[in-house]
Amino acid sequence: MEISRISHSLLFFFLVVISCSGHALSQDHRDFLRCLSLNAQNNSEIFEVVYTPNNSSYLSILQSSIRNLRFASSSTPRPLVIVTPVLETQIPAIVLCARENGMQIRTRSGGHDYEGLSYASQVPFVVIDLINLSEITVDVDQKTAWVQAGATIGQLYYKISQKSRTLAFPAGACPTVGVGGHFSGGGYGALLRKYGLAVDNIVDARFINVNGRVLDRKSMGEELFWAIRGGGGASFGIITAWKLNLVTVPGTVTIFSINRTLEQNATELIYKWQYVAPNLPKDVLIALSITRINSGKTGEKTILATFNSLFLGHVDRFLELLKQSFPELGVQREDCSEVTWVQSALFFGGYPIGVSPEVLASRVPLTRLYFKAKSDYVQEPIPEHGFQGIWNLLYEKEADMAQLIFSPYGGRMKEVSESAVPFPHRAGNLYKIQHLVYWDEPGMEASERYINWIRRLYSYMAPYVSKFPRSAYINYRDLDLGINNEGNTSFAQASIWGIKYFNNNFNRLVRIKTEVDPSNFFRNEQSIPPFYF
Ligand SMILES: Cc1cc2nc3c(=O)[nH]c(=O)nc-3n(C[C@H](O)[C@H](O)[C@H](O)COP(=O)(O)OP(=O)(O)OC[C@H]3O[C@@H](n4cnc5c(N)ncnc54)[C@H](O)[C@@H]3O)c2cc1C
Ligand SMILES: *[C@@H]1O[C@H](CO)[C@@H](O)[C@H](O)[C@H]1NC(C)=O
Ligand SMILES: *[C@@H]1O[C@H](CO)[C@@H](O)[C@H](O)[C@H]1NC(C)=O
Ligand SMILES: *[C@@H]1O[C@H](CO)[C@@H](O)[C@H](O)[C@H]1NC(C)=O
Ligand SMILES: *[C@@H]1O[C@H](CO)[C@@H](O)[C@H](O)[C@H]1NC(C)=O
Ligand SMILES: *[C@@H]1O[C@H](CO)[C@@H](O)[C@H](O)[C@H]1NC(C)=O
Ligand SMILES: *[C@@H]1O[C@H](CO)[C@@H](O)[C@H](O)[C@H]1NC(C)=O
Ligand SMILES: *[C@@H]1O[C@H](CO)[C@@H](O)[C@H](O)[C@H]1NC(C)=O
Repeated sequence: MEISRISHSLLFFFLVVISCSGHALSQDHRDFLRCLSLNAQNNSEIFEVVYTPNNSSYLSILQSSIRNLRFASSSTPRPLVIVTPVLETQIPAIVLCARENGMQIRTRSGGHDYEGLSYASQVPFVVIDLINLSEITVDVDQKTAWVQAGATIGQLYYKISQKSRTLAFPAGACPTVGVGGHFSGGGYGALLRKYGLAVDNIVDARFINVNGRVLDRKSMGEELFWAIRGGGGASFGIITAWKLNLVTVPGTVTIFSINRTLEQNATELIYKWQYVAPNLPKDVLIALSITRINSGKTGEKTILATFNSLFLGHVDRFLELLKQSFPELGVQREDCSEVTWVQSALFFGGYPIGVSPEVLASRVPLTRLYFKAKSDYVQEPIPEHGFQGIWNLLYEKEADMAQLIFSPYGGRMKEVSESAVPFPHRAGNLYKIQHLVYWDEPGMEASERYINWIRRLYSYMAPYVSKFPRSAYINYRDLDLGINNEGNTSFAQASIWGIKYFNNNFNRLVRIKTEVDPSNFFRNEQSIPPFYF
């Protein structure tokens, strides 16, 4: 039934259209620089933040925010120009000059795009790197904050924690993720069962459109404001800042991390977790990470389930609650720590609890590896024999550094309507899986081997996860789901990945795209296409 509804509404859009850029493609940076010098409002200052391959720091700036080593090699196409604006007012001239010279724009905030789309393109392009547009102002009385798009979520958490122990923001775990990309794709972390996604708590934005106009919520209108809160910012323009409603948390929260191997009943616990975690009170999150390890002295392989938990309250109440809802896990008081919210953010960011929260503000990631990821939504518990097959795949050689992360939904996530923002994965989902494979060997051959492994895992999972569509999370971008051909936008192609990421919200995104960027200037391999009549 669902298939026919979707394909019916899409039939309407099944046209292949040719988008014409209207300008000759520029093969070097000189015309762009000439244009900038004519159009930049503060034209002397803008050249302090413009880098071409002739500038000695071009490469180090390009590479500084690359998080996936797959896209850090010399075979990855590089921009003709990188601009690192320090003022919002410097951006309109960049948009204008890129258009005039037939160059694409790739906006980069934190650089965490899984497929490198914020800094690599097959056509001549300029990177607008917002690393120095990262101011954060927190208003404790109003419980709001303005955060510029180039800031990281770690910088945001740190800044909030300096002002208050009981204010927080519900966004991702990894502190180096940028708010520009993260919020425009949804954004979730340890507070999602209590407060939903980052975008559920965004109340205003500053945005630059294809004509170089600077807009806010009022001047962009509610449709565009809806679209950039989860529809992927890169399809619409450039977000320069977000206004957030901060949320309140207790001064003391409780965390634990517990490991269980197969010998300690991991399979049974994971099976049970599916029934427990999505139905716990909103104040509890128990997330699950699954890896394969070589255990003990014998070095025998086993599966390790790590349960990472946040409770918005004291340890006593938490232990009582766990005794009732998940006694099999056997959580002891010694497993738990009472900390502040910002310390819990350090913990979920992979830092030891004791370190100074200041490390959250660092843009240097803890690790940098090659990786490929995919996502799935689980709507019915996976049977135990289903897990056995996953374990078999994890025992393979390529899975040395593979990981499955299960994030429980329910709570606030099931209260928000599917169409409130473009992110549609709400009621009806028990949990989300992120499938990840990391490696540290360079070269195409290694890359193919590991990517092939995760594709096999993804095929294996098909019977156990959401269907029609097999949903996915846009922030875990996966070009295997389909790409737009350059200079050739086909709705048949775009709707494949579009409906997986956005379900029934895809058509509305297309409508908004058509209105705000009909010439499809802001585009990438998975940008929302406009439609033409
Ligand atoms: C180590 C790691 C941990 C992660 N953890 C989480 C997590 O806990 N929760 C979660 O939800 N996600 C997580 N993610 C995914 C993350 O949310 C996405 O990769 C997100 O898009 C990254 O945003 P960015 O600004 O860092 O990335 P970028 O690569 O800079 O941007 C990503 C996309 O957004 C576009 N974009 C960036 N800035 C702007 C802007 N200002 N205006 C318009 N378009 C823009 C880019 O062009 C690109 O298409 C993680 C990713 C990594 C690599
Ligand atoms: C030019 O730069 C100055 C300071 O760097 C700034 O205050 C001013 O607003 C800018 N003017 C324009 C038109 O962008
Ligand atoms: C990079 O080179 C260009 C042209 O050679 C120059 O105008 C610009 O100021 C240089 N950028 C920096 C940051 O020095
Ligand atoms: C950059 O270097 C190239 C060749 O080395 C040269 O042709 C070009 O004019 C230089 N660009 C600028 C802006 O100096
Ligand atoms: C960002 O700003 C700082 C401080 O003004 C400066 O030192 C740094 O070079 C800038 N970085 C980039 C990439 O422009
Ligand atoms: C769980 O196991 C991992 C991997 O062996 C280890 O790094 C971590 O410290 C363990 N955590 C606990 C709480 O024992
Ligand atoms: C595993 O489960 C069995 C049967 O339910 C139970 O007897 C045993 O104590 C459990 N083992 C551990 C390590 O919890
Ligand atoms: C558009 O895409 C189709 C199908 O992928 C391809 O056959 C065709 O050559 C493309 N056209 C252009 C102009 O790129």
